[in-house]
Amino acid sequence: MEITQMFSLQGKTAIVTGSARGLGAEIALGFVQCGASLVLADLDMPEETAKRVEELDGRCIALKTDISDEKQVKDLIKRAISEYGKVDILINNAGISQLSYTPTEELSTEEWDKVIGINLRGTFLCCKYVGKAMIEAGGGRIVNVATTAGITGVPRAPAYSASKAGVILLTKSLAIEWARYDIRVNAIAPHYLETELTEGLRASERVYGGLVKQIPLRRFGKTSELMGTVLLLSSEASSYITGAVIAVDGGYLAQ
Ligand SMILES: NC(=O)c1ccc[n+]([C@@H]2O[C@H](COP(=O)([O-])OP(=O)(O)OC[C@H]3O[C@@H](n4cnc5c(N)ncnc54)[C@H](O)[C@@H]3O)[C@@H](O)[C@H]2O)c1
Repeated sequence: MEITQMFSLQGKTAIVTGSARGLGAEIALGFVQCGASLVLADLDMPEETAKRVEELDGRCIALKTDISDEKQVKDLIKRAISEYGKVDILINNAGISQLSYTPTEELSTEEWDKVIGINLRGTFLCCKYVGKAMIEAGGGRIVNVATTAGITGVPRAPAYSASKAGVILLTKSLAIEWARYDIRVNAIAPHYLETELTEGLRASERVYGGLVKQIPLRRFGKTSELMGTVLLLSSEASSYITGAVIAVDGGYLAQ
């Protein structure tokens, strides 16, 4: 296979969750440029991303979906299959951080449940139902968006950290279980990237300065800097990689 073909997504169908904005939107637009047809899914209707996909002459359907709701996830997969006949790639990107960085002894059970419900349960549900379709179709690729906070602990963010640690072990477990079906399951672990999720952290020079001091490359990453790794794990270029967790972190975890 030619090297450029290895990275091509021509003829592939990809579901990208959380694609109304941030990393999900960036991934969707990158995939379109590599030839994929898209299913955009988000709690907020991803119509703005759909518009940008169309401007790039790409093909997509946009669906309002809460990934923590089993029925909505089932409907999402059904719509994807009825539109395209198959799903080759699933990017489990939708996620939330903790609303408040309160001391854990004061963290409400509701907030714990919400973060685990979206980040871990939601990722599980999408894997389960898309995985089923991929088993029937004879293969696929799943990329789960974790975080460095799923590898190292984060004070005052135990729900976020634990949910993403769960995503990492879900990734490894499925990679082993579904290898026989030619379904590769990998995760990426970004550190801080410039999206709405980290807007608050970037707003204060003192907070931002303190955080970048801990990053060897001394800056937050740009959303575009995630694309190469997502494309690698979604394409034939990674045909012998499964169960991996690739950090996109400016060197943070190397220390
Ligand atoms: N930005 C960072 O620095 C960073 C670092 C590490 C990991 N991550 C992870 O990357 C992913 C994307 O983060 P982002 O920075 O683009 O965040 P973001 O808040 O900008 O976008 C997240 C998207 O997910 C959607 N979403 C939230 N709950 C949902 C649900 N229940 N169902 C469907 N969609 C839902 C939101 O509507 C939003 O469009 C998240 O999983 C996050 O944990 C982000």
